[in-house]
Amino acid sequence: MNDTFLKAARRQSTSYTPVWFMRQAGRYQPEYRQIREKYTLPQIVRRPELTAEVTLLPVENFGFDAAILFADITTPLYGMGFQLDIVEGRGPVIDNPIMTDGDVNAVRQFSAERDTPFVLDAIKILKGELRVPLIGFSGAPFTLASYLLEGGPSKNFIKLKRFIYSRPETWSLLMNKLVKAMVDYLTAQVNAGADALQIFDSWVGRLSRHDYQRYVAPHMHALFEELAQLGVPLIHFGTQTMHLLEPMSAAGGDVIGVDTTTPLNWARNLLGERAVQGNLDPSLLFAPRDILREGIIRVLNCAGDKPGHIFNLGHGVLPGTDPDAVAYAVDQVHSLSGGAV
Ligand code: CP3
Repeated sequence: MNDTFLKAARRQSTSYTPVWFMRQAGRYQPEYRQIREKYTLPQIVRRPELTAEVTLLPVENFGFDAAILFADITTPLYGMGFQLDIVEGRGPVIDNPIMTDGDVNAVRQFSAERDTPFVLDAIKILKGELRVPLIGFSGAPFTLASYLLEGGPSKNFIKLKRFIYSRPETWSLLMNKLVKAMVDYLTAQVNAGADALQIFDSWVGRLSRHDYQRYVAPHMHALFEELAQLGVPLIHFGTQTMHLLEPMSAAGGDVIGVDTTTPLNWARNLLGERAVQGNLDPSLLFAPRDILREGIIRVLNCAGDKPGHIFNLGHGVLPGTDPDAVAYAVDQVHSLSGGAV
């Protein structure tokens, strides 16, 4: 087992910098697109053999140091009583978004064993096949709530914010329910074999620091306190979170995800005794090789020599990315950081 990723997450020294990419399994891969011609995203996720195959693809093709379970952050929401569609080019759209206090009261208690057994089966298959650690994941309560309240992807998050400001007690109840659900979901993933967990709070950066502290941080603190008992490294990720890195790291996580808009050296200084993950601009994978290589060197230099850096993009691999650029990038991270893999 190649445990370089786990060592870096625990801030132990490694012979090279481990690398994986968010959304490393996805539509930029021709093999994945072939599978998608026959199955939708929910269909793939409900077939453990297919999930395992898709999860393995980028690890086998490009030599990533970790695999991330193939699923969507919306996968557990069906079990909580939501109907949703993944709309091509737009994202998840909820047919029955939350509008009233009654809708929050009606949110069903989630059970991973009952509602997402296929996810746990996929993890068990993967554990027999992987030679690198498997990252389990979920959306963070705020980011999940943003879909549930907005009804889909949003720019300004007005419905969400209006709800937070005008119904703080119902908001708190919803967040409590989502924390409980994600604790169940993530605990089940670790019991099935996941070696680490990433919590995606992708849209939380759209809150001010004040609102994060008041409406989100206590819930994230509760979530991380429960998850810490599982004994696996926890990655806490968001985008456009330069103003939130301190409260986010105070809420929890062994590794703090840093997106491209935050300078990585600044984040490392700020966070001190905490591992960091990031933060190559995903669009550099569209650049000529010398520019891409320069970008990789810059990220490695910003991370410095201190143990505790996991190389990643600032956000997920973009559609249309050339798989050869991904192969090149992984190779360069390994060789430039001192490893021959
Ligand atoms: O790349 C693909 O086509 C894979 C299939 C797919 C996923 N999600 C996989 C996924 C599709 C079609 C979606 C739909 C979806 N879900 C969208 C639409 C945009 C898009 O890229 O098609 C969106 C915005 C979501 C919601 C979502 N899913 C968020 C906010 C996150 C957190 C990560 C992030 O981008 O901020 C996810 C996670 C996700 N979706 C994963 C996968 C395999 C897991 C994380 C990973 O692989 O890194």
